[in-house]
Amino acid sequence: MVIYNAKDYNDMSRKAANIISAQVIIKPDSVLGLATGSTPEGTYKQLVEWYKKGDLDFAKVKAVNLDEYKGLSKDNDQSYAYFMRKHLFDHVNIDINNTFIPNGLEEDSKKECARYNQVIKSLGGIDLQLLGIGGNGHIGFNEPGEAFEKETHCVKLTDDTIKANSRFFASLDLVPKFAYSMGIKNIMQAKSILLVASGKSKADALYKAIYGEIVPSVPASILQLHNNVTIVADDDALSIIKEKGLL
Ligand code: F6R
Repeated sequence: MVIYNAKDYNDMSRKAANIISAQVIIKPDSVLGLATGSTPEGTYKQLVEWYKKGDLDFAKVKAVNLDEYKGLSKDNDQSYAYFMRKHLFDHVNIDINNTFIPNGLEEDSKKECARYNQVIKSLGGIDLQLLGIGGNGHIGFNEPGEAFEKETHCVKLTDDTIKANSRFFASLDLVPKFAYSMGIKNIMQAKSILLVASGKSKADALYKAIYGEIVPSVPASILQLHNNVTIVADDDALSIIKEKGLL
């Protein structure tokens, strides 16, 4: 595991965008596993800037997202499909037919999860998986639990996550209670993983993920078992790790 200490959110975003750019330059037909949420917004903004300057080409890139709320259509402005178009896909030359995200409107969870696992397999695996981390240590929507979920599954979101995500919705009641998410096995099969973290609210989860026991109650702790993980985190997110003299 390599840890890059960024000084703040902007620095984290630039460093993360540099790593994604390098991946796309080295392998123009990369399969990128993508995440939503506040943390990668700056990374996507930077990638769009570099694309506009002519430094990046997404023509052959394929993108497969981690998760989607169950019950939201791709045109709902709180859906992750909408987020991806708004922050990245609408601004670069990626072929929208090469972008994949669970279908929030599919009510049959078993069917949708099987379909999405098949999508990931048919892409030949993920070259670089971008991850954020929840304050409770979740990755994708793999919430703390009794066991690591393997493949795409339908998740009942925890109260913590519903509360954290309610900042994007008009009220707490409007936050969906379920989501489709890639499982830990899907994530761990990515050839490389880039985890971004910013802010004090992530410090405890990041410390436990990197230095704690590998337990399903901290889903991100499984990343200790992957052989190609890069973490780009700012001073605040690394504060506990630094206080303990681990970095
Ligand atoms: C989103 C996702 C989530 C977020 C996590 C952190 O696709 O997979 O695991 O990465 O909830 O969210 P932010 O970045 O909003 O703090």
